[in-house]
Amino acid sequence: MKEKIEALCKEIEEKVKSVSSVKELNDLKVEYMGKKGIITELQSGIKDAADKKEYGMLVNLARTTFNEEFDKKQRDLNELELNKKIESERIDVTLPSKKIRKGSKHPMTRIEEELEDLFVSMGFDVYDGPEIETDENCFQKLNLPLGHPARDAQDTFYLEGEYEKYLLRSQTSTGQVRVMEANVDKGPIRVVCPGKVYRRDDDATHSHQFMQMEGLVIDENISMADLKGTLEAFCKKLLGEKTDVRFRPSFFPFTEPSVEVDATCFKCGGKGCPLCKNTGWIEVLGAGMVHPNVLKMSGYDPEKYQGFAFGTGLDRFAMFRFGITDIRTIYGNDIRFLNQFTRGDEEDVTK
Ligand code: DAH
Repeated sequence: MKEKIEALCKEIEEKVKSVSSVKELNDLKVEYMGKKGIITELQSGIKDAADKKEYGMLVNLARTTFNEEFDKKQRDLNELELNKKIESERIDVTLPSKKIRKGSKHPMTRIEEELEDLFVSMGFDVYDGPEIETDENCFQKLNLPLGHPARDAQDTFYLEGEYEKYLLRSQTSTGQVRVMEANVDKGPIRVVCPGKVYRRDDDATHSHQFMQMEGLVIDENISMADLKGTLEAFCKKLLGEKTDVRFRPSFFPFTEPSVEVDATCFKCGGKGCPLCKNTGWIEVLGAGMVHPNVLKMSGYDPEKYQGFAFGTGLDRFAMFRFGITDIRTIYGNDIRFLNQFTRGDEEDVTK
């Protein structure tokens, strides 16, 4: 019996080894371990064995031999199968890929990022304020109390049922209020706030929506000279080094004194053309020294701190930079318009 089992184990080892597919392996299992399998039959012979214990042990040896060999082979076959699959499903990375339609940055995003870079390099932070503003931040804290006549110039979109409470921000100075209010120690501030502004405007050079860039600097000993230097750098960055800048006295309720900033016409270079209405200048920014009332309303001591603020729409700069003739196309979402701003034209054309 012992020799018989040893021979059987050997036979099992050889047979299992020679198998080359899962099917063949399973057939072997039936042959040895199935209902009428060789080992199963041996097992049923136990009742007639002279030495049941030894017989049992030998049959068990045959059974474990089979199971071990079977498991080993099964693992090998699975691995082989997997490798085959990997091989057959391999991706040929040398094949040219399908053309991906690359998007490009919206012209307004480009101008915005370029300016953020400039201001960050001058030590400013960037603050992103909400487009839905409170009347308080948009007007009252900017020295425009309820009923102030200057509000008329900024008719905008009020939220239904919330008149005199919430509105789409109608001017570029609301970010500064939020930053001043949030600055708990009421110390120095240098910040620019990009974002959208909404106004009741709709023609070739005015849109009901524009992209703002407002700025605020608060510190001790801040003067008009700081304002002029900063805004000159701003204009030269966007319109080219040769650009001249002039400051005209103006009125804004939240700054005193207030100025309007003109740059030499980017079309004719200052000679005079239809774009600048033959003046050679184009108005690009509103600015001024922060009104003491505005400082006080947001918790600043106007005896200690001064500040300057400015605000502008970036759309006109984009029109110049990219040769856009109608401001409304900027927000029209027409893919034919947007496709013109491919990634290739990212270089600075003002240089
Ligand atoms: N807030 C003004 C607007 O949207 C622009 C402006 C003018 C901002 C003067 C200022 C400023 O900070 O000092 O039309």
